[in-house]
Amino acid sequence: MVENQTANRSLIAVTICALLLGGCSTSANDGAAGGDGAAASADSAAVTQETNGGHDGTAEIGSQTVELSAEKPEVAPVAKNNEPNRIAMNLPEDPSTQMSFNWYTTDDVPGSMVRVSTDAGMAEPLEFPAETTEVTSEYAERDKDGFYIYADIATNDDGDFLLDDDGTPQEVHGYFTDAQLDRSNTEWTSSGSDLGFLELHEVTEHTNKATATGLEPGTEYFFEVGSEEEGFSEVGSFRTSAADSEEFSFIHYTDTQNAYWNANVNNEAAYGANTLELARETAPKALFALHTGDFVETAAVEDEWVDNLDMSQDSNLQLPHAYTPGNHDEYRLRYQNGKNLESFNNHTNVPITNDAVTGGSYYSFDHSGAHFVILNTNDNKESEDNLEQGAIGQEQMEWAKQDIAQAR
Ligand SMILES: [Fe+2]
Repeated sequence: MVENQTANRSLIAVTICALLLGGCSTSANDGAAGGDGAAASADSAAVTQETNGGHDGTAEIGSQTVELSAEKPEVAPVAKNNEPNRIAMNLPEDPSTQMSFNWYTTDDVPGSMVRVSTDAGMAEPLEFPAETTEVTSEYAERDKDGFYIYADIATNDDGDFLLDDDGTPQEVHGYFTDAQLDRSNTEWTSSGSDLGFLELHEVTEHTNKATATGLEPGTEYFFEVGSEEEGFSEVGSFRTSAADSEEFSFIHYTDTQNAYWNANVNNEAAYGANTLELARETAPKALFALHTGDFVETAAVEDEWVDNLDMSQDSNLQLPHAYTPGNHDEYRLRYQNGKNLESFNNHTNVPITNDAVTGGSYYSFDHSGAHFVILNTNDNKESEDNLEQGAIGQEQMEWAKQDIAQAR
């Protein structure tokens, strides 16, 4: 995290995780670029079977011996939640007159909106209706007490999971939950799925996207998101950008990543929330935060977005964000299943230039006389637009050149 002061400059943000954190390359899913993601996760764990398959016994998970059950614990449903959650406040192209918001609810709540007022008590608010979209989220399977359900399954000599073509384990030795695991036993993990074979289950939810428009530049506003029917969030605040060049501060942080992604045992989302709080204390006048990617470790795991966004909610309600997509922000749990191209944009309300969504989007914005360009290196997939699989394709490159030329 650093504080930056800038004016009259163009800045380009791309994911910079590799420069900042060695942990970036330790993900199970980093193998997705050319290796075996799920398999790599088991490399550092001596997962051995001490009983004949299918019966109660024990397994060595990292530094611990866990008891296995032959029966898989019942998967508990994800509780319905129509209180606005996973709230994000994002910079649109013109943050001097607009501000964008994103939040989740289980249902399509009628009358979802953002209310904006110059009064801290929300007097005479302007109302902007939300666009609500049904999405399918994938949550980790948990038991009724919220513990993750893991299977101890057969592996090859390298410790790689032995899976059939459809991704199902070839041999299940038994089941355990993370209720048995100690925090010290997550030191060798980089994701929640390193501890054993974990499955996700689909849940229908809704995203709500709203943009407040027609605001006054350089003005403090208060806001709340939600609905009359289900209630509103706590009141947050933001300051619109100055219309012209003006010295300003912003916070830059990156790779919240949420390694382990397991709040029961160890959860990096809490560290991310704390880092952001300390950054705000250090830079109390910061007008926004630039996050340069790898918001989560594994984009397909909804639990991670819940943890990262909700644990940082106090900060997120007071600080607009410019999010940059990182490579992890399009990962599925197992690389065989391809990439998750929508999750980043489902959880954010950042501009989408050229309708180009591929594990995120690219866009630009002006703030107090500085021009920011956010590139999307998840555009690195081989296609007609990107024959040599460069970091970005031709269309994005052409757009970036034009965008920067126009900003000069
Ligand atoms: Fe990273």
